[in-house]
Amino acid sequence: MGKDVIIACDFDSAEQTLAFLDGFEGKKPFVKIGMELYYAAGPDIVRAVKERGHRIFLDLKLHDIPNTVKKAMSVLSRLDVDMVNVHAAGTRAMMEAALEGLTRPDGTRPLLIAVTQLTSTGDGQLRDELLIPQAMEEVVASYAKNAKAAGLDGVVCSPLEAGRIHEVCGPEFLTVTPGVRFADAAKDDQTRITTPAGAKAIGSDYIVVGRPITKAEDPAAAYARCVADFVG
Ligand code: C5P
Repeated sequence: MGKDVIIACDFDSAEQTLAFLDGFEGKKPFVKIGMELYYAAGPDIVRAVKERGHRIFLDLKLHDIPNTVKKAMSVLSRLDVDMVNVHAAGTRAMMEAALEGLTRPDGTRPLLIAVTQLTSTGDGQLRDELLIPQAMEEVVASYAKNAKAAGLDGVVCSPLEAGRIHEVCGPEFLTVTPGVRFADAAKDDQTRITTPAGAKAIGSDYIVVGRPITKAEDPAAAYARCVADFVG
């Protein structure tokens, strides 16, 4: 699996998304469609982006009882996406059900990864609000082990945790890492962040980059900078 940059297309309409992708002139970046765009434009935007030749990470972060997640994944498996995800906090049983629902009758399926802890969550919130006393790194590693035991392909995590996850779950277990910022840019609401080059050094397999590209004056140039720094 090659390293790649995934652009988080956090827009609220199909028009805006397609116009944004028009700016990449011939390039077909790997695209993430998350809740905002999916809730606004539905499965049609997934089909439209796929028809243009992009790979798609459908980031809907499912988290419900196992039966509901299994059935929802079965519906999503009919969309020709490349990667989907769940919250590891939904438990191993839920992740196993997700995998079962996602697998098509012919045995094929998109990659399935699990969110460990959101990269916007800090240590204080983990301890004081979620009442988890362990250190973030241990919580993330433990959630990743559960995801691996359930048969998933990898996790979404902070780039700062990618090295530890590969230590614990092996080099083939994918680390997909948001929380990436250029050294000279705003952090926005992300807390556990690094640069594209930092993510490469730590061993992320995919970086997910949203606002540093979507809000850039020249998004295609910002994307090219990410690819140069991360893929090399
Ligand atoms: O704009 P920014 O680069 O912060 O976008 C990061 C993207 O990754 C957003 O779409 C966000 O929902 C997603 N994400 C995240 N942290 C996670 C999982 C997903 O930031 N743990």
